[in-house]
Amino acid sequence: MHLHKYEKIWLTFGMASLVIFLLVIGFAAFWKGTHPQSHIETIDPQNVEAHEAFKPENLGLREVADGKYTVNLVASAFNYDFGTDADGKAVKRIRVPKGSTVLFQVTTKDVVHGFQVAGTNVNMMVEPGHVSRLETVMKNAGEFTVVCNEYCGVGHHQMFAIVEVYE
Ligand code: CUA
Repeated sequence: MHLHKYEKIWLTFGMASLVIFLLVIGFAAFWKGTHPQSHIETIDPQNVEAHEAFKPENLGLREVADGKYTVNLVASAFNYDFGTDADGKAVKRIRVPKGSTVLFQVTTKDVVHGFQVAGTNVNMMVEPGHVSRLETVMKNAGEFTVVCNEYCGVGHHQMFAIVEVYE
């Protein structure tokens, strides 16, 4: 078989590009151990309560310092569990003052869910076995809808909450 000169050049170029690409990816993934930040901490999805942040009494909003808050929640099909209020009702609304720093810590008991606070930069994938964390400053006042943006089953659209940022 005889290959045309240009075919050879491009074939070589293609192969070389592939090798370089795989080396770069391999280097990033294995030697440097690069992976998404949210994957650093693992958790037993069958027993999320064993983790301090996800004990029932630690769910929901907590002021940890002046203007600094933590929100712990557990996603499951088809609910976001922010704990309960003083009347024992499920919390579906988180209220923080404008300009506050909020750390969201999320995990899931079952399948992959999303945790997006629409209109803010909070947008995480929540995977079983992992703790997803994201800290943000709530710059704008308003009501922001929490949505699941990973399809998780028939009740996917029912996963819903509100983050209210007040002046
Ligand atoms: Cu949970 Cu979609």
